[in-house]
Amino acid sequence: MVSYKELGLVNTREMFAKAIKGGYAIPAFNFNNMEQLQAIIKAAAETKSPVILQVSKGARNYANQTLLRYMAQGAVEYAKELGWEKPQIVLHLDHGDSFELCKSCVDFGFSSVMIDASSLPYEENIALTKKVVEYAHQYDVTVEAELGVLAGVEDEVASAVSHYTKPEEVVDFATRTGCDSLAISIGTSHGAYKFTPEQCTRDPKTGKLVPPPLAFDVLDAVMEQLPGFPIVLHGSSSVPQEYVDMINSLGGKLPDAIGIPEEQLRKAAKSAVCKINIDSDSRLAFTAAVRKVLTEKPGEFDPRKYCGVARDFMEELYKHKIIDVLGSDGKA
Ligand code: 13P
Repeated sequence: MVSYKELGLVNTREMFAKAIKGGYAIPAFNFNNMEQLQAIIKAAAETKSPVILQVSKGARNYANQTLLRYMAQGAVEYAKELGWEKPQIVLHLDHGDSFELCKSCVDFGFSSVMIDASSLPYEENIALTKKVVEYAHQYDVTVEAELGVLAGVEDEVASAVSHYTKPEEVVDFATRTGCDSLAISIGTSHGAYKFTPEQCTRDPKTGKLVPPPLAFDVLDAVMEQLPGFPIVLHGSSSVPQEYVDMINSLGGKLPDAIGIPEEQLRKAAKSAVCKINIDSDSRLAFTAAVRKVLTEKPGEFDPRKYCGVARDFMEELYKHKIIDVLGSDGKA
């Protein structure tokens, strides 16, 4: 048993309370590799932003759970080396799908876990979430739960259709499970294709898709039921068109890739939404950079030359999210 406290990590409790009061959101960035982690930590250290490092099932399969945890431990030391005296870093399990997995993460030094039982019937979601909460809270590890279903595909989490969270269920769910934060479904979705062209309109000038707005009425109703309770938004990449265009112009094929407009995320961040999950945008930044370097220098064969540029692209992206979208800069 390793406590996250020994590793210099923190849980989300105080971070979320401050974020709700301060009208900003904490960035939750997924990581799978060293360059991504370096970029996240550099961006957070430079902007003095609290940050949540997320490990998904796909990341565990790709990079190995043990290795990722040691990388997060190393990230705390790296942040200090960068001059961030008291780093506010959470290591979070993204989309945990069983009690055993959540328990293993708690035992291994994660400071926060998500139990995503949102695809189960309501009472089963409550029972499983409660079991995880009871275990995690013994070690002061915070727990995120989910009500409602997001559409889209993210690693191994997939659903064809979304079901908005039912505001009339949230009080009962939060009370009976004891969860610390709640991921809700208001129209965001995982991946780089968040809406079909049929769900969108087209900008007559640019021909680009314009996505439908998020269901802020559902968010408002949830906040009315659970005043001051931490709300989480998954699937919140904005799919920057500059990266999509770069990728497409350099031989890629991402037709009609589309995300959540940043002004909607800005609006959400000012509310009780205090954790915003972003993964796909960094994949796009990474891919755009690699395509650019390899197109411009076809003879390049040193991965450091293109992964280094990818790291710079991601760092810029993370800083932009922190400063211009979530407003978490200077809060750690
Ligand atoms: P995106 O695919 O929009 O980046 O969402 C990531 C996410 O929600 C991870 O849980």
